Amino acid sequence: MKDAKTFWDKSAPRYAKSRIRDEQAYQKKLAVTQGYFRPDWSVLEFGCGTGSTAILHAPHVGHIVATDISDTMLEIAERRAREAGVENISFQQGTLESLELAEESFDAVLGLNVLHLLEDLDAALARVHGLLKPGGIFVSSTALVGDIAVFWRMLIPLMQRLGLAPYVNRLGRQQLLSRLTNAGFGVEHQWQPGKGSLFIVARKCA
Ligand SMILES: C[S@@+](CC[C@H](N)C(=O)[O-])C[C@H]1O[C@@H](n2cnc3c(N)ncnc32)[C@H](O)[C@@H]1O
Repeated sequence: MKDAKTFWDKSAPRYAKSRIRDEQAYQKKLAVTQGYFRPDWSVLEFGCGTGSTAILHAPHVGHIVATDISDTMLEIAERRAREAGVENISFQQGTLESLELAEESFDAVLGLNVLHLLEDLDAALARVHGLLKPGGIFVSSTALVGDIAVFWRMLIPLMQRLGLAPYVNRLGRQQLLSRLTNAGFGVEHQWQPGKGSLFIVARKCA
């Protein structure tokens, strides 16, 4: 985990300047998510990065706790929220394991472009499940490294050795869906534009 923090702290300035790869898909995911939100909802986002998505969701909910392993990402996110005049996001550094958050206190948890970076996905899903109120939703969007062409998969260890890529797990679509089911979620919505990230809205079964 220490390595992950170092990698993402270093990557933050470049990540902040990067453009959204598929703007149309991003907008659709925002709209689907906001269709579930209620104005009084308490939302947790883990791996919030530079805060762009939390800032766009903030007017649609009561409060967002936006968290990330990287202090540098959070510094950028806090500055962006301030500049946008958004006041209902609080930022906390940490991981799902390290953060002190009350059980069953969130109506929604967001994990966007982060599940593929976790070494222990089952532990993360169990924590998300515990943090959600009964009937709460878990919204994720995940790069499926297990489903990409073997050639690209073989390049990953080399890139990691050069410090150009972080740890990534090898999840495929079916594995992610069954891990969610095993963790006690019912998948309500799934959408994968082309070979892009798999967007899922899953509900904590009562
Ligand atoms: C690919 S970026 C995605 C950022 C943002 N969610 C987005 O969609 O633009 C991954 C983010 O997850 C964070 N991260 C990586 N591993 C993490 C972990 N174990 N716990 C929390 N955050 C983590 C990184 O610091 C980075 O900000």
